[in-house]
Amino acid sequence: MKTITINTLIELKRGGEKFPVITAYDSTFARLAELAGIEVVLVGDSLGNVVLGYSSTVPVTMADMLHHTAAVCRGGTKSLVVADLPFMAYATPEQTMANAALLLQAGAHMVKLEGGEWLAATVAMLVERGIPVCGHLGLTPQSVNKFGGYRIQGRGASEAEQILQDAHRLERAGAGLLVLECVPQQLAARISSELAIPVIGIGAGPDTDAQVLVLHDLLGISARIPKFARNFLADSGDILGALRSYAQAVRERSFPAAEHSFH
Ligand code: KIV
Repeated sequence: MKTITINTLIELKRGGEKFPVITAYDSTFARLAELAGIEVVLVGDSLGNVVLGYSSTVPVTMADMLHHTAAVCRGGTKSLVVADLPFMAYATPEQTMANAALLLQAGAHMVKLEGGEWLAATVAMLVERGIPVCGHLGLTPQSVNKFGGYRIQGRGASEAEQILQDAHRLERAGAGLLVLECVPQQLAARISSELAIPVIGIGAGPDTDAQVLVLHDLLGISARIPKFARNFLADSGDILGALRSYAQAVRERSFPAAEHSFH
């Protein structure tokens, strides 16, 4: 695989080619993701759930994220590496800048943060200073206590309109990628077609520009597998085969299917 940059991903979107994204938390899985030809590796704060045993991403710290981001990057993967800014690591501009810089110095190529309009100035500030940003809208797990649980977002008209406006606002602020999590497929399709930047779906239906899954959900080893995930290991028999078959299913648009989507 050639080295993937944000320009590669924009070209894929322009060419109508869908690309796979997978979470990884260590160097072995980052290497396997690259061998499977997966363009983007996300060092997600989902590591709190699937690696550290927490019941949410809220307890994940910058120290956790730096440790796992450095592990993912140590092998010099050719995939683009996006690292999550964890809960409360971007509450103020100064804190955001310092923490985002640490993630890039650990080897990440881009940072991801959760939220809409209120983050627009932060996104612009980071991008102006050379730190690429991925937005994250819809079900933003760091706000689980505000939502009162892991619920589909954007089902009502005004909530959907708010997510659409937030997506445009983040793009105007300079975000290079956007994750949309657990939103109705019609809303995800609209946002993907209106935005020039690649939109990565998870529980967002088949019409986004890219798809992400949590590694442990794809392998069928998470304690609770969400409805929108598929166990690719069951069909493939080995881990590299599972990653390859996930990548192929995303590119061919056979995953996600109707049963993995919300309406
Ligand atoms: O932390 C994570 O793994 C994520 C994905 C679910 C998009 O943010």
